[in-house]
Amino acid sequence: MEFFLDSSSLEEISEFSEFIDGVTTNPTLLSKVDKPYKTIEKITEIISGPVSLEVISTTKDEIINEIDNISRIAKNIVVKIPLTTNGLIALKYATSKGIKTNLTLCFSETQAVFAAKFGATYVSPFIGRLDDLGLDGINLIYNICEIFNNYNFNTKVLSASVRSTAHVVAAMKAGSDAITVPAKILKQMLYHPLTNIGLDTFLKDWNKSKK
Ligand code: E4P
Repeated sequence: MEFFLDSSSLEEISEFSEFIDGVTTNPTLLSKVDKPYKTIEKITEIISGPVSLEVISTTKDEIINEIDNISRIAKNIVVKIPLTTNGLIALKYATSKGIKTNLTLCFSETQAVFAAKFGATYVSPFIGRLDDLGLDGINLIYNICEIFNNYNFNTKVLSASVRSTAHVVAAMKAGSDAITVPAKILKQMLYHPLTNIGLDTFLKDWNKSKK
């Protein structure tokens, strides 16, 4: 399984590069940096795994044009396409060209199945944004994983909009192939206070015994 960092910050990506398999960005995250396209190029140099960059067009022809341009940026670029009907038609084009894709803004099982049928590399169901509406984001991950398994779809389920380590654990239990998390959650995934307290005690005891 893969862990991705959901970030456009070069500082965060460099800090966690040893612990992640790739990076996901979106237009909101990239709007926070000065030079978005330069930043994306740098990200693809720091990280050898998949780096998702989202199209900002909405018509079929414009999305297809962007797919061509974005896929040329680097060999590890994954083109992120919104799960609209135009996005799905453009996905067919990307699949026919062997271009890697991440179908984003997925909020239903049926949207995910269309992405899989049309050859998406990843589909990104958003957990937190469903929870925000009082719905059950993790249940969507369970359902999509089960359905993909029933039909042997190759599309990977990439859990997104993750708000807590509890989301990460639940997504892994559901069988999610990949999970993208903000830096704050990745830190919580790596750190446990009892590990540090325990290590302090071990080293203090060892050093005392040497005196
Ligand atoms: C993933 O690809 C998205 O960029 C991201 O996970 C969205 O998360 P948010 O709902 O916290 O904005």
